Amino acid sequence: MPLKTKRIRGTRDIVPAEIHKWRYVERAALKVAECYGFGELRTPIIEKTELFVKGTGTTTDIVTKEMYSFDMGRENISLRPEMTPNAVRAALENGLLGDALPLKLCYIGPCFRHENPQAGRYRQFIQFGVECFGAQSPSADVEVICVARDLFERLGIGEIKLRINSIGCPDCRPAYNQKLVAYYENHKDEICDTCKERLTRNPLRLLDCKNDRCKAIAMDAPKSLNHLCSDCESHFSGLKTRLDVNGSKYVIDPFIVRGLDYYTKTVFEFTSDKIGSQDAIGGGGRYDPLVEQIGGPPTPGLGFAMGLDRILMVMEENAVPFPEPKTRDLYIGSMGEEEGIKALTLTCALRREGFIVECDTMGRSVKAQMKYANKIGARHSCIIGSNELAAGNIKIKNMENGEASDVALTEKALIDFLYGKYADRIVIK
Ligand code: HAM
Repeated sequence: MPLKTKRIRGTRDIVPAEIHKWRYVERAALKVAECYGFGELRTPIIEKTELFVKGTGTTTDIVTKEMYSFDMGRENISLRPEMTPNAVRAALENGLLGDALPLKLCYIGPCFRHENPQAGRYRQFIQFGVECFGAQSPSADVEVICVARDLFERLGIGEIKLRINSIGCPDCRPAYNQKLVAYYENHKDEICDTCKERLTRNPLRLLDCKNDRCKAIAMDAPKSLNHLCSDCESHFSGLKTRLDVNGSKYVIDPFIVRGLDYYTKTVFEFTSDKIGSQDAIGGGGRYDPLVEQIGGPPTPGLGFAMGLDRILMVMEENAVPFPEPKTRDLYIGSMGEEEGIKALTLTCALRREGFIVECDTMGRSVKAQMKYANKIGARHSCIIGSNELAAGNIKIKNMENGEASDVALTEKALIDFLYGKYADRIVIK
């Protein structure tokens, strides 16, 4: 019967044959963040909707159109569409800002946005991100950018482009916004309907419209970089100097304005030309007023997040090799009741030692058991029959080259044998 209840559009299953790729990328991300002193934070997937209204912002597509929100009687709750407001809330709620500053946090987890699904754009996707609180210097901007750069290098996707811009601060942005609106008022009849709406709601976003006609109009629009106050100007030049000294390549892109309300000064995006129209594999920037907006003391902040779904797409597109998926170290086959019990006991003992071992739980014939061992890619196999049980000895076959080894049929002998083959096996007891 065909399956009627299928997964929701824009969501994905990650099956066991694929999971090693995710684990590899997630481990690499956490490792790089750890090297930079970012501690892992885990926050709930559900939060009060007001957190994102205050944090992400009321003019964003995310809050106005894309949040999965539901009313549970006494409170309105949303599935997190991003994790920056959560990190701020968690830092405040757990008193983390009272500890040594800068406070550096990193996270990995699913986010949810009700967007139109397409390649690289999902309704549930995994973000890896870092947030840094308390640091005003552009050195912190560079540190955050370098986490992403180092991760791309570690994963073998070093060709990712870094685009930077500065969108000013509450001191210089209002005057710039006025100039931008004045320019667009003269082109009101030519811009798309979404841009007409942005003109009153969020003028900065006029600059990143994907419509061809709007793009052409944006070319001559005033750019924030030419209207920065001296503080923002010197921050941006400090950022460029540090990136240069650090050997980090970048392009200045005045059209990077970001789709979230909280940004000030530095904004940046990482793009890849390998994955089609959803080419932003990460983005971030400074959000100096956000902590105060969410109810904390004035504390500068900055960070980025990247979509791991898109990172994996780039890796696959570039044919970057992943480490081999783990297969079974040993299959212990058996013939008969007593032999089956022995196989089960040994299998459990070896698993406790950290090896990946299987035995028969289907009551199959020896031939069928070996076929199964082959199918699951067991590296070694053996069969316990009445002779082996009586002699206390077993032949372990290397499934790749057919080589056979005589081993005593004891827990210790099998453990010693497997350690000889897999010295790197991590034992968790
Ligand atoms: P964002 O640009 O909205 O920023 O998302 C960051 C990254 O998440 C994107 O560059 C993209 O790779 C991935 N992403 C976003 N939406 C989707 C989707 N529908 N499907 C697949 N991947 C997606 C933020 O979320 C900010 N919180 C970043 C930040 C952290 N800024 C400061 N700190």
